[in-house]
Amino acid sequence: MAPPCSASLLDVTGAPCICCSALVMAAWLCRSVMQRNGIWLLPCPVSTPRLCSRGVGSASSAPRTLSAFQDNPRTVDDLPHVSFLELLYRLVFQGFYNRMHELQIYEKQRYGPIYRNGLKSVAVNTPKLLEELLRNDEKFPCRGDMSLWKDYRDMRGFGYGPFTVEGEQWYNLRAVLNKRMLHPKDSAQYGGIINDVVTDFTKRICYLRQCSPTGDLVTNVANELYRLSLEGIASILFETRLCCLEKEIPAGTQDFINSIAQMFSNSMAVVVTPKWSRSVLPYWKRYIAGWEGIFIFAKHLIDKKMEVIQQRVDNNQEVEGEYLTYLLSNTQMSTKDVYGSITELLLAGVDTTSNTLTWTFHLLSKNPETQDTLYKEVSTFVPADRIPSAEEITRMPYLRAVLKEALRMYPVVPMNARIISDKDVSIGGYQFSKKTAFTLCHYAISHDEDTFPEPFTFKPERWLRDGRERPNPFGSIPFGFGVRGCVGRRIAELEMYMVLFRLIRLFEIKPDPTVGELKSINRTVLIPDKPLNLHFVDRGHVNAHKLK
Ligand code: HEM
Repeated sequence: MAPPCSASLLDVTGAPCICCSALVMAAWLCRSVMQRNGIWLLPCPVSTPRLCSRGVGSASSAPRTLSAFQDNPRTVDDLPHVSFLELLYRLVFQGFYNRMHELQIYEKQRYGPIYRNGLKSVAVNTPKLLEELLRNDEKFPCRGDMSLWKDYRDMRGFGYGPFTVEGEQWYNLRAVLNKRMLHPKDSAQYGGIINDVVTDFTKRICYLRQCSPTGDLVTNVANELYRLSLEGIASILFETRLCCLEKEIPAGTQDFINSIAQMFSNSMAVVVTPKWSRSVLPYWKRYIAGWEGIFIFAKHLIDKKMEVIQQRVDNNQEVEGEYLTYLLSNTQMSTKDVYGSITELLLAGVDTTSNTLTWTFHLLSKNPETQDTLYKEVSTFVPADRIPSAEEITRMPYLRAVLKEALRMYPVVPMNARIISDKDVSIGGYQFSKKTAFTLCHYAISHDEDTFPEPFTFKPERWLRDGRERPNPFGSIPFGFGVRGCVGRRIAELEMYMVLFRLIRLFEIKPDPTVGELKSINRTVLIPDKPLNLHFVDRGHVNAHKLK
């Protein structure tokens, strides 16, 4: 059975049906939106900001500058704010519940660049304000409460991974995880593994198009890219191939994919229902069973690797390997912490990369001139019989610009969060007390017209370093920022560059007119609202090309 596409992964049938009245439904939707994001990056604020009361707030959307308020700075009370009921109305009756990214733009138009959203978090909505906030980030940045993810780990005695751990422990964990992953030279060592995976993916695309009635159509491309991303990240983390790109996915791998779906789809119900109901209602059991399947799979692969390492040690052989071997044999990490971290890395690495590639292929199919420019670069950069090395591929300016622009238009993580825990901060002329929760509205920011003229037009040229003025870097930071930024960024970029390079060199990507307009919906990550089919038209090299 094919794996669910990332769209269906998060939209699967287990969605709880607990909404018997409009109000309950509204509450559920709201909580589930909070939770969907909380699971990933936008936890519910752990505390309401300590409000410094200064009377009734002004509705002005334009914050005055800090200097104007040095004597008497404005506070959170002075911000325009959205009430909880307004938020519910927008989610339910205006249909924003699965378009929270578009709600950012709507609210920005109404309230300006900084306001308090319906969840009492301060929404930050321009590149300049985002920069101000993130430059104030702390030594141990915090996104918020991740207790929902911690529960299972606590029950089973597994350690916390990079998403769940906080404070100094997080700092120490990242110091270990960053090695061999974060820097371009680290990721370059995975070039060979990624290339092998991309070769298998290219073969699979060739096979699928041949099977289609037109001889070049691939249906549900997101589904295929999901398989690719899982194969890619697993081959790096576990140093083993899962065979997701074979005709049939192995049963254990399919169970793992199903477990991810089960965990995500039941987590919403777990949040909206009281703790006492866990033994009565089915959601908690299903949610925990989802985590169980995820951890069983990861643990099995980690244990197998440990056996191999032990055998080599027993035989006085050198222990060599990449990521997992490094974690197991070169660090002080306990096995239970390795289980926790590897599992979270695995979860973080699949939907993000696969959906970004889906959007990029979609955009290229709709913009043939851009695709031609990209083809010119990929077809001349290295000889046709050669695959570029990891170092070479990161030196292709147009390829990089295409991906950067796709991530600007469809930031796969469209919002993020920070809680500045230890100090008061001043943002946009407003003074905020410590523990204030901030929402980072990345989608609205990367569609800011002042920073990106024609923000809804795909223009990779914006990012070229050819003498033109480049946009404010905080206008688009799809991998986050600073020490808590994405640990998998370099690996993800390398994989995405390689996939784009190889496929654009072989095929002209054309849209399938039967698909119609593709819209984005926010299901933890930004996904298409329907399956994307694409024509992969042979540029004349498929047979001649050695898929090595
Ligand atoms: C297109 C691909 C990807 C995008 C756009 C992306 C985006 C992000 C963003 C926005 C964050 C939050 C950063 C912050 O709060 O400042 C993040 C965190 C994270 N990402 Fe990625 N990511 C991608 C791929 C990956 C991959 C392949 C992995 C695994 C190897 C990964 C692992 C993680 C982890 C573990 C964190 C949490 C870091 C921490 O809290 O310390 N990501 N990612």
